[in-house]
Amino acid sequence: MMTDSKSIDNTIKDDKHADSSLATGQENKEKVSKKEFSKDQEYLKEYFAKALGLRPPPKQVLSTVDMEGIAKLISEGKAKNIITMAGAGISTSAGIPDFRSPKTGLYDNLEKFNLPNPQAVFSIDYFKENPVPYFTVRKEMILGNFKPTPCHYFIRMLSEKGLLLRHYTQNIDALERTAGIDPDLMMEAHGSNRVGHCLNCSSEYSHKWIKDILRKDGIPKCTVEGCTGTIKPDTVFFGEQLPKRFTELVDQDFDKCDLLIILGTSLKVQPFARITSRVPDETPRLYINLEKTGTEANHPLCVLVFGGGFKFDDEDNYRDVFVEAACDDGCYRLADLLGWGDELRDLVKREHAKLDVEFEEEERAWAASQIPVSTTANQKPCQITPQQKNKNIKNKNVTSNRKQKP
Ligand code: OAD
Ligand code: ZN
Repeated sequence: MMTDSKSIDNTIKDDKHADSSLATGQENKEKVSKKEFSKDQEYLKEYFAKALGLRPPPKQVLSTVDMEGIAKLISEGKAKNIITMAGAGISTSAGIPDFRSPKTGLYDNLEKFNLPNPQAVFSIDYFKENPVPYFTVRKEMILGNFKPTPCHYFIRMLSEKGLLLRHYTQNIDALERTAGIDPDLMMEAHGSNRVGHCLNCSSEYSHKWIKDILRKDGIPKCTVEGCTGTIKPDTVFFGEQLPKRFTELVDQDFDKCDLLIILGTSLKVQPFARITSRVPDETPRLYINLEKTGTEANHPLCVLVFGGGFKFDDEDNYRDVFVEAACDDGCYRLADLLGWGDELRDLVKREHAKLDVEFEEEERAWAASQIPVSTTANQKPCQITPQQKNKNIKNKNVTSNRKQKP
């Protein structure tokens, strides 16, 4: 039996952090309750039973363990509940940097902030103390108009063909939404930038309002009378909980999954990375990425905490396919094998042309709305509805430590 996700510590953690807590054993001892531990034990028992040949080996459903085998599985109608899982690598070709790629990744470009460690920029405790590095780093992404990539549109095609069970993304750029993927078919595991909330009084602020402040080099601060809280976009920071819907959907979806496609992620952040092992043992897993990470976790303690990894290079690999490629290229290759290539190219062309017009209009509207302002960015009126204003007044004494909204 796979680990029940209820036994998953739902707080977002970098793998490095998780490794060190493994090494000392302290953090896990504190966080994993007895009941949860017994579920993990069950998983471990099952894992070793399989490893020792005490269970029948899982059935191989792929005719060949490669991209062609995956395409055949789909075209023969044997993959109708596909789950896609994505990370920052699906948006790099749109112009949004990832986190861990050497030189270009965000974590390699933070020296000027003198952070205790690169991840601090996305850690909730640090943000409360000093939000400047976060907004400086994120400004370009929040302000920019980015177009979804062919990979995003490939996922949309899967949904339009009725093959997508769910898309799980760690990205907060909302490019999946821009690409037209139905939000119900999506799980934005690390939240999204679409709205923000005051850390003190929980008042809600629109993305547009935050954008306007950042355009003027301001830090978004609450405009409710007497409140000076910082506005935090509704994304999940290190040290915060993932949305409740994440755990619910993982429980609901993964047992049904008949093909898992993992795109553009280093699989370094938990709990997202470990759900790759929540699919049934037979389910093929296709991983398209520039580098091969997330391979077999051999150490029993790693297995206990993170579940087994991939078997790309093992002799007994019957389901794990690694394609070392840019996500767009990998998706085009798969689309071509499926005979969908032209359709995908047309879709990308059409949607990009539409977005070019939209972005131009938005820029024009912004330029037209600009009148000389003598006030500072922070004094700009808050764009909230009267109902929200009432809520703000009621919530005036609400303190910080607000958990991420589902
Ligand atoms: P990473 O930067 O850790 O990993 C991106 C992966 O995509 C790397 O393995 C790259 O080699 C690969 N890659 C980059 N461009 C690619 C391309 N065009 N095609 C294919 N692969 C490409 O980003 P994530 O795995 O998304 O969390 O990181 C996970 C989380 O760590 C993020 O959600 C963020 C970060 O800290 C928070 O901020 C809380
Ligand atoms: Zn406030």
